[in-house]
Amino acid sequence: METIQSDSPKKVFIETWGCQMNVADSEQMLGLLRAQNYTQTDKPEDADLVLLNTCHIREKATHKVLSRLGRMREISLEFNPKMKIAVAGCVAQAEGKKLMEKASNIDILLGPGKIQELPGLLAAHAADGKRAMAIGFEKHVVDSHRHDPAPELAVKTEVETPYVTNPTVTMKEEITRFVNIAQGCDNFCTFCVVPFTRGREISRPLESIVSEVKTLLTEGAKEITLLGQNVNSYGDDLVRDGKHVAPADGPFVELLDRVAQIPGVERLRFTTSNPHDFTKPVAEMFRKHKNLGRYIHLPVQAGHDDVLERMKRKVTVAQYMERIQWLRDIDPEMALSTDLIVGFPGETEDEFQGTLDLVEKVRYSFIYAFKYSSRKGTAAARFKDQVPEAVMHERLLRLQALQNRITTELNVAEIGNRREVLCHYASRKEPDVYYGRTEQFRLVKITSTRNLVGKTLTVDIVEANKTALVGVIV
Ligand code: SAH
Ligand code: SF4
Ligand code: F3S
Repeated sequence: METIQSDSPKKVFIETWGCQMNVADSEQMLGLLRAQNYTQTDKPEDADLVLLNTCHIREKATHKVLSRLGRMREISLEFNPKMKIAVAGCVAQAEGKKLMEKASNIDILLGPGKIQELPGLLAAHAADGKRAMAIGFEKHVVDSHRHDPAPELAVKTEVETPYVTNPTVTMKEEITRFVNIAQGCDNFCTFCVVPFTRGREISRPLESIVSEVKTLLTEGAKEITLLGQNVNSYGDDLVRDGKHVAPADGPFVELLDRVAQIPGVERLRFTTSNPHDFTKPVAEMFRKHKNLGRYIHLPVQAGHDDVLERMKRKVTVAQYMERIQWLRDIDPEMALSTDLIVGFPGETEDEFQGTLDLVEKVRYSFIYAFKYSSRKGTAAARFKDQVPEAVMHERLLRLQALQNRITTELNVAEIGNRREVLCHYASRKEPDVYYGRTEQFRLVKITSTRNLVGKTLTVDIVEANKTALVGVIV
């Protein structure tokens, strides 16, 4: 029988899908594995452990996991009989045993609420050879404070958020670091699986977040991004449970105010902001703290009140626009991005036109647009009038064409502007080429013979296209 020895060196291959939460979880799991003497490999052929951290947000996600598992089976048969496979993330939580039945090569299955159990599950599997599984949620937050130095996680992900600056760098090289402030979600938007896969909202204690931010700064982070499914309702549960004294403007404002003042936080961002809980005091933080990035991801999902109501988003288009006005009154250059779903059940051409009108009005820097995908267990899956695929497809193309035009126009309008750019990474393909972001989160390419990573530079924007700006150091 195989025995697990924490001193025998082993290799792990990690693949991460989905949102930034999963990236943060992968980073944490790698930290746990490093304590078991694992190092990372980018070749499943060499891996003792293959770890797939999965996303359940849309239909194809599960298929993708199964097809990836099929590929791993082939690799294992051909090159790597010792390979163990662990499936983590939201598909693991949602499908549970069913996934184990569908894919007999899964050795370990663990949900997002159980990532701390990974070493224990590995040990149990090594001891008895049986498949091991842990899903479900703790009632209290499993504190995700990372005391150990940043693991060298090469993030290979198809992210759903704008926040991975470069999918090939290791976390250690990252100038931006992510800090989970809450797990789960209480909102139950009618299309969404997240409350089922991540459980109810549980916030981390404020002091623990502050202390993690300080640790990350000592590792070289310049920009901090606070993460949650609904960051604006951060801490409401702590107040409700009597664990935190209610501050006047709410716990999220208190948290932002604290973190923005930590010396070394050159830029602070947060995601995702649900417009429903986005209050005026949150907007006012952008006035008070100049290091709050002049960009915000504010998912609206649709541009018509009837659709928003069917989605249970709890805001109207007018209320959404009001929030944007608060922000742009403080800074007229405030950049925005959003998530949009086309073809939500019952969406008429007229309702879809509302989405196009909204996009035209807000002039987002970029958008994430998705075809509605029916998810088992959600309320919308039972709605009548599911929109045909061909209609969704055509609407998505129209929406994307509109946004492409706007993105290009906004980028081209940057030519001639002088901007502060925080340089994030060096190009792996072109020598002396660096990429950074303006305060408005626009990607800027800069050429330099000295290493710019982590530096804040003043540049003149001289060229622009849909994807990026070109800056020249002043
Ligand atoms: N908590 C965030 C969203 C997280 S999910 C918020 O409330 O804004 C990320 C995005 O995936 C959503 O904003 C939505 O646009 C998209 N999405 C979620 N469920 C979906 C579904 N069933 N079909 C299509 N897109 C979906
Ligand atoms: Fe899903 Fe809505 Fe929660 Fe966002 S706020 S994670 S869309 S249920
Ligand atoms: Fe996907 Fe789970 Fe995030 S379903 S989008 S990985 S919360």
